[in-house]
Amino acid sequence: MTIDRRKLIHAAGGLTLLAGLGGSDAWAHAAGAYPFTLGVASGDPAPDGFVIWTRLAPRPLELGSGMPKRAVPVRWEVAEDERFSRIAVSGEAIARPELGHSVHVEVGGLRPGARYWYRFSAGGEASGVGTVRTAPAAGAQLDRLRLGVAGCQHYEAGLYTAYKWLSQEPDLDAIFHYGDYIYEGPEKRGCPVTSTDGERTRTCFRQHVGDEIYTLDDYRRRYAQYKTDPDLQAAHAAAAFLSTYDDHEVDNNWAGEADQDGTAPEIFALRRSAALQAWYENMPVRRAQFPAGGALRMRRRLDYGDLLRIHLLDTRQYRAAPSILGAEQHAWLEQGLGGGARWNLVAQQVMVMPFLYPESRAAGRTNTDSWSGYPASRERLVQTIAAQKLGNVVIATGDVHKHHAGVLPARAGDLDGPAAATEFVCTSISSGGDGAVMDAGWEGVAATNPHCRLTDARRGYQVFEVGRESWLTDLKVVDRVTSPGGRVSTAARFAVQRGKPGLASA
Ligand SMILES: [Fe+2]
Repeated sequence: MTIDRRKLIHAAGGLTLLAGLGGSDAWAHAAGAYPFTLGVASGDPAPDGFVIWTRLAPRPLELGSGMPKRAVPVRWEVAEDERFSRIAVSGEAIARPELGHSVHVEVGGLRPGARYWYRFSAGGEASGVGTVRTAPAAGAQLDRLRLGVAGCQHYEAGLYTAYKWLSQEPDLDAIFHYGDYIYEGPEKRGCPVTSTDGERTRTCFRQHVGDEIYTLDDYRRRYAQYKTDPDLQAAHAAAAFLSTYDDHEVDNNWAGEADQDGTAPEIFALRRSAALQAWYENMPVRRAQFPAGGALRMRRRLDYGDLLRIHLLDTRQYRAAPSILGAEQHAWLEQGLGGGARWNLVAQQVMVMPFLYPESRAAGRTNTDSWSGYPASRERLVQTIAAQKLGNVVIATGDVHKHHAGVLPARAGDLDGPAAATEFVCTSISSGGDGAVMDAGWEGVAATNPHCRLTDARRGYQVFEVGRESWLTDLKVVDRVTSPGGRVSTAARFAVQRGKPGLASA
């Protein structure tokens, strides 16, 4: 892989970048390996720029990643063309051991609505090349925007074939990641057993390195292992990520200051602090998300001209009954929804609409790790939409490893009634393994959930194509992820008309 990458860099004119380096790269000779094993990434586009990211890890599966315990310089370049013949801006950043030798450069001074290419060099080596678009000028009239949606990428559960196909989607402006970028569990003992034509086959691929993760070094190594995947790297290189986290970046089903095991809050806080720092280090996010005091501000907004305002929510850090968002974030969302964009995308992690699971239908039980565990928050969102007369709210969700297309009812309990907003739940990249068109036992799901039009439990991703009057969502599925060569197809396409929350087949 390294050799191919170097060829690529040569083709792209990497030598000019290396020529500018100079300085001491003795650390690289000591490490004796290529430092850009984790790829490159970009994120959070603004009209004048974006974040570009990399992290030096010559030996990614070792604690410490094979880096010396000192700061090292990293050169970066942003160009107007793929061959880097027209450099727009360049500079030097410092990769520090305090931040796991990650580099976040907030690039500014660029043209709005324009495509750029970027790369790094350090230790006498050049990184791969990524591409990213700036957002349109504030308030500019925009006719069309294409967003990918992805998340839930358990490394042991399957290959990242869905990312391979997502990275080849034409003309993506950005990719919203709803979280579960890593999973915290230990290496699986014994290989998963799959049954093929009556024969039991052991599949033993992609095992976690190490035990359950608790310390900052543990989390860093887990991110490094996931990021060595070439399909994930291709997706990052193809478009800006709008990164959020869900539970597995810290611990399964954590909420606010509590884990699900009843650990004392001050003890859990130590783990959460390490996990959130590692999230910052490994995501292409801005300085505004820098961790401090064991917490960080993940929620933020992005605007795409007059067409779309994206509200990235944090449904984990401020959870405390009865609110899933916390009072401050609720107020922030309410204030921001009325910004006047043609569409509002509420981009978050867990299902907002009520949903009755087949196995618990009789008991009327819902998933309390979602907004169904916080009905007062859901009601407040519905009331906000009604009070501001917003007919332009679309919700993006992940978490359940299934595609769903549904609506958030305007009246609690009236699932057949009018809709307040449209919700697209995106299936996982790999979590759950190959999956099926519909899980066994889910036949009754349509009857008990009339507000939900589709359930598909295969792996995949979604693409939102946002127009001025209509919004199209493609639900993409991959036929297998537990062996190579999985093919992609479109399971369904839905349309939403602005001013009329709901779903129509398209
Ligand atoms: Fe997940």
